[in-house]
Amino acid sequence: MTTIIDGKVAAASVIETVTSTAAALEREAGVKPGLAVVVVGNDPASHTYVNSKSKMAKQCGFNSVQHSLPEETTQEELEKLVAELNADPAIHGILVQLPLPKHLKSEPVIQSITPEKDVDGLNVVNAGKLATGDLGTGLISCTPAGALILINRIHGTDLSGLNAVVIGRSNLFGKPMAMLLLSSNATVTMAHSRSKDLPGICRGADILVAAVGRPNMVKADWVKPGATVIDVGINRVPAPEKGEGKTKITGDVAYEECAEVAGAITPVPGGVGPMTIAMLMANTVVAACRSLGRPVPKF
Ligand code: GUN
Repeated sequence: MTTIIDGKVAAASVIETVTSTAAALEREAGVKPGLAVVVVGNDPASHTYVNSKSKMAKQCGFNSVQHSLPEETTQEELEKLVAELNADPAIHGILVQLPLPKHLKSEPVIQSITPEKDVDGLNVVNAGKLATGDLGTGLISCTPAGALILINRIHGTDLSGLNAVVIGRSNLFGKPMAMLLLSSNATVTMAHSRSKDLPGICRGADILVAAVGRPNMVKADWVKPGATVIDVGINRVPAPEKGEGKTKITGDVAYEECAEVAGAITPVPGGVGPMTIAMLMANTVVAACRSLGRPVPKF
């Protein structure tokens, strides 16, 4: 029987720890964890994501601040806002939603976020700590951190002897995911659009993680029987069966056929997605605890 990995259940357990830690911070230190989420422009998907992040922050008892800036915002204006948030003691986490509108350069903005408040784990300091095996003092990108928790639920925390394949090599997901798997002793292959024989590489995986942004790309004959399949894709596709002009969200994995071969698999929606938001809350509460010199919770 294939195990369906329920991200909603795992996320709820993270959120419970976040909420109780936030309540203790407020009770004992008089401080609410502060999360500032910045979105620029009119991309509807970005606004949907950002609204759910702000809403969850409120539910966790945080000081939740959302900055929605117009499409025509300049590089200077955006960097000025980040500088103000960096200097604001009531803000412990800063997230600038990506992608930014085309006229803005994301890298200088991301690198200007102070590493202690970089809850996306994208600053070179945080990415470098992860790459050098320091999992204890930086902040780790939310989606890979959440995906690892789901993998740990199936395999435990020591992945010695297991082959892991990550498809995708982005700074936000693929690279930190590979680093986390490597730190857990897996033998890691990073595959991507230029890899030769992607299906063959994937068939060697005990743990297959797909983050490519191509709906239903991973097929059943790419999956080793019994493997754990983690689908990070969030693709909006037409759903004529729901009515004319309707759409639905689907992953990078052809779920139905792969579920017949896999030992464990994450659904989309309801798999990795809820973990991303939960880990953003976790990173924010960790940043707040550190800023007050208090012990950080384990997730
Ligand atoms: N866009 C899509 N996912 C993310 C994320 O995790 N962080 C940021 N900043 N932007 C995103």
